[in-house]
Amino acid sequence: MAHNSIAIYPGSFDPMTNGHLDLVERGIRLVDRLVIAILRNEVKEALFSVDERIAMAREVLGGIANVEVTSFNGLLVDFAAQRGATIIIRGIRAVSDYEYELQMALMNRRLRPDIETVFLMAGEAHSFISSRLVKEVIRLGGNISGLVPRPVEVRLRRRLLGEQQ
Ligand code: PNS
Repeated sequence: MAHNSIAIYPGSFDPMTNGHLDLVERGIRLVDRLVIAILRNEVKEALFSVDERIAMAREVLGGIANVEVTSFNGLLVDFAAQRGATIIIRGIRAVSDYEYELQMALMNRRLRPDIETVFLMAGEAHSFISSRLVKEVIRLGGNISGLVPRPVEVRLRRRLLGEQQ
């Protein structure tokens, strides 16, 4: 891809899972700089505040060079353009993700034809992980080790199970 290429990896990241991390590691091999952008103006109720999600993501991504974590408001493509990004990275797990992702990618292309959406697949060991299911499983007492980074697991247990660690 182009020299000095910047990609945006947008999402809710409520919270960041090992599937997200897998995608960050794949994405940074394709571009010079990867900006993880957490949506601020979300309608759906989140478990963690945007600031908590940023802090968690920064903690688990601390060792990866050229990866930045931030938040954004408004249209994703406007934020991408403002940051000089030409690529939007999104993960696709099963076929069921495709329809929603295709719609967003085509709408974003219509809004800004110069920004390309690139879909990446996490490794198969991570391809069933979602933040939503991780939260449900932990809430119901299931084991989520290996599905989220350790600091995220600790915070999830604290928030959902009231554990002090
Ligand atoms: O992790 P998610 O919740 O699937 O991420 C969805 C996200 C943040 C990528 C999407 O909702 C988004 O880009 N929102 C910003 C507003 C916007 O640009 N909407 C038009 C998208 S076609």
